[in-house]
Amino acid sequence: MKKYWKLMVLLIVSALIIPACSNTADNTSNGRKVKLIKNEDQVYVGFLIDTLKDARWYRDKKLFEKQVKDLGGEVKTLAANGLDDVQIDQAKLLIEEGVDILVVVPHNAEIAAKIVTMAHKSGVKVISYDRLIANANVDYYISFDNEKVGELQAKEILKHQPEGNFAYVGGAESDHNAILFRQGAMNVLKPLIDKGKVKLVYDQYTNEWDPETAKKNMQALLKKRGNKIDAVIAANDGTAGGVIEALDTAGLARKVPVSGQDAELPAIHRILKGTQTMTVYKPISKIATEAAKLAVHVAEGKKVTTDTTINNGKINVPTILLEPIAVTKRNIKDTVIQDKFYTKQEVYQ
Ligand code: GAL
Repeated sequence: MKKYWKLMVLLIVSALIIPACSNTADNTSNGRKVKLIKNEDQVYVGFLIDTLKDARWYRDKKLFEKQVKDLGGEVKTLAANGLDDVQIDQAKLLIEEGVDILVVVPHNAEIAAKIVTMAHKSGVKVISYDRLIANANVDYYISFDNEKVGELQAKEILKHQPEGNFAYVGGAESDHNAILFRQGAMNVLKPLIDKGKVKLVYDQYTNEWDPETAKKNMQALLKKRGNKIDAVIAANDGTAGGVIEALDTAGLARKVPVSGQDAELPAIHRILKGTQTMTVYKPISKIATEAAKLAVHVAEGKKVTTDTTINNGKINVPTILLEPIAVTKRNIKDTVIQDKFYTKQEVYQ
């Protein structure tokens, strides 16, 4: 008798555990796909984002959701707070909820490949949003020209400091974009480095794009070099903010040009104050609108052609690349204000 109960408990437990730890997700019932939304005729889009830590991702979420709804679809957004396991579990959850397509901002380019494998097993296509998923059969990729972002940053800094000791403060190495931003900056700097005009005295990625880490790294560098730094190419406004705090403490703010990216409002204010030299504006409304159109069309089974592809280590992913814009004191009006990214009042308050 005792043996019988042991067996029963085992069977019940395994019936509970096995589905939970498998990397497959089931969105069918009696073989028919089930969508956990009111109107099952609607396209159901799942939007997985890495984090809401950087201001821009709120805007991506708001604008993307609005565009999907305007196109008659339904959408659910989940943020993973920079945690890979959470992002994979969120993908599983949305697949089980019957999404027709997944749009993913991966935290880690390599680890997110698991999401593509899992989604394809359930017949769900995957679009890489802003950041590329590496080494996976990603269906589409939409982003800004990220190498060009790095080129715009380096070119603007060189206008203010044509030679000297440069520091490259990169983004998170887990983010494929950070590699492209750096590649772009090096495209511009390398000829000057080869000529000995520019000396790269610091060249490192910043874990999790963390501003505090960027600040500490810059403080350590200034200490090590007795404040002998002539220019900083920081990959985004978050890291630029950390760098500028360190420069400020060393009495070097406004004396050392610093780049950024994302046109965050504090960065626009720093540019007006002169402590930051430039940022790169990426019109989020453009990527959100194009991505929503792409997601709904692909989910409806429409064939979408793109004007380019990018190799992610496994395949040439059909890709849509959008134009980034350099912003300095000279063109704040014609860019972020004209586009209503910010109001005049917000910028000049
Ligand atoms: C990058 C993104 C940037 C920046 C960064 C930090 O992938 O392209 O705009 O925000 O992430 O979140």
